[in-house]
Amino acid sequence: MSSKKHDMDETPCDSTTAIYPGTFDPITNGHIDIIERALGLFDRVIIAIAINARKEPLFSLEERIDLITQCFEPENKRIKIDTTSGLIVDYAEKKGACAIVRGLRAVSDFDYEFQLALMNRKLARKVDTIFLMTGFRWIYISSSIIKDAAKHNGDISGLVPDHVEKALQNKYRTDAED
Ligand code: COA
Repeated sequence: MSSKKHDMDETPCDSTTAIYPGTFDPITNGHIDIIERALGLFDRVIIAIAINARKEPLFSLEERIDLITQCFEPENKRIKIDTTSGLIVDYAEKKGACAIVRGLRAVSDFDYEFQLALMNRKLARKVDTIFLMTGFRWIYISSSIIKDAAKHNGDISGLVPDHVEKALQNKYRTDAED
């Protein structure tokens, strides 16, 4: 029998807390669907606005925090909204979370998510990535496609909360006036 021991990390990890990271530029109904379903699996979900070096967000960090905050009842203590600028696994470990939640929309998401999840696993073995299939109604939306539609006065009602729709309209109106 092999004498090699399993690489079991003794540091406690809170199996009731999950991190839901993303750029959230802006939050959409698809994200909200994932958050609500994650709350069915975990006691606490930390929505972490993280930096994706490849993106230049339309909304500032403060604006994105505010838009997410307005989506949930203030008394809902199971949801926390936060920002992080380093590695997401370091953040998860700091918060004692056992899982990173990601939404999958289509096969096209898979390559990137697979790479991200494996890299995160290499960096921190005790933090697992949990994939939830995005609700069918939201399968075709992304923050970018919604911004694009809003920019050209397309109807985005029902795809984002009302306050997000207004924020997008204001943003593009201001941009047009500049
Ligand atoms: N409904 C609707 N849209 C969804 C969705 C859902 N359920 N799930 C994802 N999306 C969309 C998002 O709107 C976003 O659209 P966009 O590209 O048009 O902005 C896209 O899918 C994926 O974005 P998001 O989930 O926000 O992830 P991301 O790729 O922008 O960011 C981070 C991923 C921030 C989590 C990742 O870059 C990260 O962890 N950064 C920190 C550094 C790090 O640890 N890197 C990894 C190891 S090196």
